[in-house]
Amino acid sequence: MANILCIGAGYVGGPTMAVIAQKCPEHRVVVVDIDGTKITAWQSDRLPIYEPGLKEVVLSCRDKNLFFSPEVERHIAEADIIFVSVNTPTKTFGQGAGKAADLQYWEKTARLILQHSRTPKIVVEKSTLPVRTAEAMEQILHSDDRDLPFDVVSNPEFLSEGTAIRNMENPDRVLIGARDTPSGRRAMQAIVDIYAHWVPRERIITTNLWSSELSKLVANAFLAQRISSINSISALCEKTEADIQEIAHAIGLDSRIGPRFLNASVGFGGSCFKKDILNLVYLCEHYGLPEVARYWEQVVRMNEYQQARFHSCILSSMFNTVAGKRIALFGGAFKANTSDTRESPALNVCRALVEERAEVVLTDPYALDNARIDLGEDARRVTFEPDPYAAAVNAHAIAILTEWPLFVDLDYEAIYRSMAKPAFIFDGRNILDHRSLFSIGFNVQAIGKPPLIHPAR
Ligand code: NAD
Ligand code: UGA
Repeated sequence: MANILCIGAGYVGGPTMAVIAQKCPEHRVVVVDIDGTKITAWQSDRLPIYEPGLKEVVLSCRDKNLFFSPEVERHIAEADIIFVSVNTPTKTFGQGAGKAADLQYWEKTARLILQHSRTPKIVVEKSTLPVRTAEAMEQILHSDDRDLPFDVVSNPEFLSEGTAIRNMENPDRVLIGARDTPSGRRAMQAIVDIYAHWVPRERIITTNLWSSELSKLVANAFLAQRISSINSISALCEKTEADIQEIAHAIGLDSRIGPRFLNASVGFGGSCFKKDILNLVYLCEHYGLPEVARYWEQVVRMNEYQQARFHSCILSSMFNTVAGKRIALFGGAFKANTSDTRESPALNVCRALVEERAEVVLTDPYALDNARIDLGEDARRVTFEPDPYAAAVNAHAIAILTEWPLFVDLDYEAIYRSMAKPAFIFDGRNILDHRSLFSIGFNVQAIGKPPLIHPAR
């Protein structure tokens, strides 16, 4: 039996530890956080995040071998293995502002671990970190006279929100990096043994520490690059009457390219793609590789361009003014099946329309609370409406910003009847049947597709 601790009860710490607890009933798993309200929510019926299948997993082991606690110090003292899953956002101040990772939470955690440890520990980097962070971690952990044996292991997380439980239960791979020393190898084996409870051994790959740390940044950069690549071509499609979904299908059948992650959209969001690519850019600059830095930076710039292009299209299609017009935004979450609105393109479009003095109504099945918080001051000029039908009443336009399946199944004839005319639909996710919407009477603009506009009568 091992005492496993996770510091950070967020989108990664909560779900990953719940699955580890469920799959390893002989281990005791505790998740701690400095945010007491989050811990209270994890202990309640209303978990702090929405994630399909999460509640079932939590309920199956909570208070058996899975515990949530605000007592960080006490549980550090008791732990054998400590996963660190604190936030590593983009730095907003000083050197590297806007690109480098802000490692203050990370470093505080390292110091806390040192301060409250009395026994040897394996410290696992679960957060996404700049390459060579483990070296700094080791220096902090070995900085006092006691010289307690600590081993630092890298085990980056590859789950996607909305499919976190599925990804954890059946991962493409688990990556574990450690020092090539006798104690490093023992630490690595201890982490391999946890995952081997349910992950086939050939999918648990082991590398050196730096490859493991850097692989995480590179994986996110490659995924985001595919989206920016297809989005860049969507702009060309809109000029040439080519259809981006036909192109994605045609190129995706090439097994070297593959069909996944080729959905053109209003842009990628989420707390990680942008921050991790900018971190990669910063690292390249730091190591004197400006050409490599510019190459990856363009992935982020293309994403900003795609979002700007989308709201410009709304404006120009609606006769260059939306002031005083009700516009219903369908979706606030950065993707379907999550309540997370961090870096959501939906909120960027929302802000741009508020700026244009549109009367914005936002609807989303799970993300309205987070949207209200993230919009800050702008939230006062937005109506939050859980019912999409009510959101659309008297609206001049609907913009689909999150690919929630429920938006596909709505009665668009009834919605059309309730709207101001001419009625527009801007499909930022290409999930609707555009021809049938056009035949109902809508003017339809989708990403990377010829517009379907009724001629003036
Ligand atoms: P999050 O903000 O949801 O959770 C981080 C938690 O850490 C917060 O609740 C915060 O209160 C807590 N925390 C910070 N400092 C602490 C301290 N000293 N002691 C105890 N708790 C502390 O962040 P997240 O989305 O879970 O991401 C965590 C890390 O995992 C990041 O590095 C991120 O890049 C990476 N990651 C995230 C995802 C994802 O889907 N969100 C996927 C893979 C990797
Ligand atoms: C992403 C990665 O997929 C995970 O492997 C990684 O662990 C995680 O980041 C992380 O490090 O945080 P996530 O951001 O949760 O996961 O969700 P994705 O499914 O990757 O979607 C990211 C964004 O891209 C969303 O806004 C989504 O709508 C958009 N997207 C995705 C597209 O616009 N088109 C696509 O084809 C796919």
